[in-house]
Parts: sequence; C-alpha cells; structure tokens
Amino acid sequence: MSAPLPFLPFTRPTIDDETIAGVAEVLRSGWITSGPQVKAFEAKLSEYCGGRPVRAFNSGTCTMEIALRIAGVGPGHEVITTPLSWVATSNVVLDVGARPVFVDIDPVTRNLDLGRVEAAITPATKAIIPVDLSGLPVDRDRLHALARKHNLRVVEDAAQSFGSLWQGQRIGAFGDFVSFSFHANKNITTIEGGCLVLNNEAEVRLAEQYRLQGVVRTGHDGMDVELVGGKFNLTDVAARVGLGQLPHLAAFTARRHELARVYFAALQAAGAAALGLRLPVADFTHSNWHMFQVVLPEERLTLKRAEVMARLHAAGIGTGVHYPAIHLFALYRRLGWKEGDFPHAEYAGRNILTLPLFPAMTSADVTRVVAALTGLLRDHPKS
Ligand SMILES: Cc1ncc(COP(=O)(O)O)c(C=O)c1O
Repeated sequence: MSAPLPFLPFTRPTIDDETIAGVAEVLRSGWITSGPQVKAFEAKLSEYCGGRPVRAFNSGTCTMEIALRIAGVGPGHEVITTPLSWVATSNVVLDVGARPVFVDIDPVTRNLDLGRVEAAITPATKAIIPVDLSGLPVDRDRLHALARKHNLRVVEDAAQSFGSLWQGQRIGAFGDFVSFSFHANKNITTIEGGCLVLNNEAEVRLAEQYRLQGVVRTGHDGMDVELVGGKFNLTDVAARVGLGQLPHLAAFTARRHELARVYFAALQAAGAAALGLRLPVADFTHSNWHMFQVVLPEERLTLKRAEVMARLHAAGIGTGVHYPAIHLFALYRRLGWKEGDFPHAEYAGRNILTLPLFPAMTSADVTRVVAALTGLLRDHPKS
C-alpha cells in the first residue's frame, strides 16, 4: 500500500534560505523595528512601481484607510466598492466615518461591475475602491475614465494583484492610490504588511504622519504632532522577508500561470463545464493568478459548499472561501443591507471556492484536486 499523500493546503508561502539567513542577520543587528531594511524595501517597491513614491506599512488594510484619510474622505461622504471582497475593503470606509456604497459584481470577472457604477454616484461620492479579486485586474481604462469624469479619487485595493499587469503596465505603476497587501497568503509576503503607492511628496508626508502617531521630526531633537496618526509601521524583520521575496516575483507569477493552465486543461478534460462548474476568466495577459477560484452550481448539486470542502479536506485537499458577500454580515445588515441587494455577489458568496494554487505545487497536485472535485460534482447531482 502506498503512503497517503501529504495534505495539500490551498496556499503556502515560498521563503528561500537566503531570506531566512537575512532575517537572522537583521535579528542580530541590534535594529529590528522600522529602519534601513524598510527604507531599502520601499526603494525597491518604488522602482517596481515605475519610480512612484511608495511607503510600507504593517498591513494592507491600514494603507487603504490612510489613503482615504489623505483624500479627505470622512463623515457625510460615500465610497463605491464591491460586496465581494475581504471585509477590510469596506471596513476602512466605515473606519473613516464614511458610508460604503456597494455595487454588484460582474458574475464573469467577479469584480465590481463598472457598468453599474455611474448609477451609484451621488453628490456625496468621493472615491471608488475597486478590488482585483484573485489578481484579475479591474479594467483600469474604464475605471480611471469614470473617476476623471466624476472627479473621484481611486484607492485601488490591489491586495491580491501585486505582479498583475494592465495593458502591459504593472499594477501600481500608474493610477491614483494603489494599496498592496503582503499578508502571508499573498503572491509575495512580509508575513503581515502592505504598501501604499502615492502621487506626490505632500501625500508622502501625510502617509508618514498617519503611519506613526502623526509625528514629524526635524533636526536632532525636533518633534511635532499635527494630526492623529496610528501605529502602522512595518518592522525591519518583515521588510527583510519582503526584500527576499521580490527577486522571485516573476518566477512565482510564471509558475502560477503554468499551474492555472494545468487547471483549465484538467477541468476541461473532466467535463467541468458540463457539470455546471463556473471557471475563472482564462486571463494570461493581466492576472497574477493569486487564486484559482471556481463557483459551485448550487442549483445542480445536492452538496452544500461546506460539505464539498469537508470531503475535499478528508481527501487531503485544502480549500478556502474568498469571500462571503460583505453586505450580509451582521454589522452590514444592521447598517441596512439585506439579501437580494446584490444577487451576483450573493451567489458567488455562497458558492465560490478557492482551490489550491501556489508556486511549490506540482501539476500532479492540480490533477488530484480536479479529479476529487469533479468526482463530487458527478456523484451528487440534483435530480
Ligand atoms: C482584497 C483584499 N483587501 C484587503 C486585504 C487586507 O490586507 P491585510 O490583510 O494585509 O490587511 C486583503 C488581504 O487579505 C485582501 O485580500
């Protein structure tokens, strides 16, 4: 009898020995919080983003909150966003005292449906937060044309799209504010962390103030505080992890593309479409393939998503849910949203399933996942 296969998680970071040794060096250096490694990481990120100013933070969430604050978004204002994202995307709007205005997704891309945005704009609208779910970029040409036409700021929630492109340009290298996350599951990681791409030196100064208690230093001993900032600085230990990840970005993305192609081929061979499974857009031009997500056909399947996940788990396969529809969380229901408001996001929220995809996976892992999943679909049809 052959030994059981090791458990396949839905994602796993790849951190090389050179980075691990580099982290040990930082730990021995005597300077472990924000310092030279953060500065070096910011310089590399800025280079990646075509020379735009970039500042690093201890999460992707706070970068969006800070971008909204810099843009002057607050009480009485509205911010348009998608209901199918990590709840951080809309929580930051509530954090600054503004109101999120959700617009349903396009069920094919699973991103904010830009065709519905204009109808949601009111005199109170100040900004749009689009999300590149699974790394598939929102159409940046349409997005920025809309923003220009209505004089809105854009805070790109590019948490999942570091390494993605739009018409040959890197996400982050153009646009307005761009927020990236380097959480452990992202395509490159600092364990926890993020960065914000800014437009000019005035915004950089504000971002630095919001990052650390509003403090401004001058000379050897000068210190002043002009606004209420938080505690959002990245550590040098984390920045060293990020510096060790960046050189691998291109190879990580290429490997994700290869594995995504294996998914499409295996799903096609297994007749996934005939089983009603909805596949992601087969984009190999723009996406960084942060995740490979399918949507289960609830009208054709006797198993609920939780049962599918449990059975896959029992077969040694990890899956994830990214994400339940935000407007149906208790907090958001209390604020007035309800079932039926955004049918496409709700359907995806109930049925979307993230399959394993990370650079260290093999093609055999992919075919194992596809066989297990399509087997479940085939064995549990609604009659
Ligand atoms: C779409 C999206 N937005 C925002 C975030 C927040 O990033 P962080 O976890 O770094 O705060 C994440 C990360 O999970 C995300 O996936």
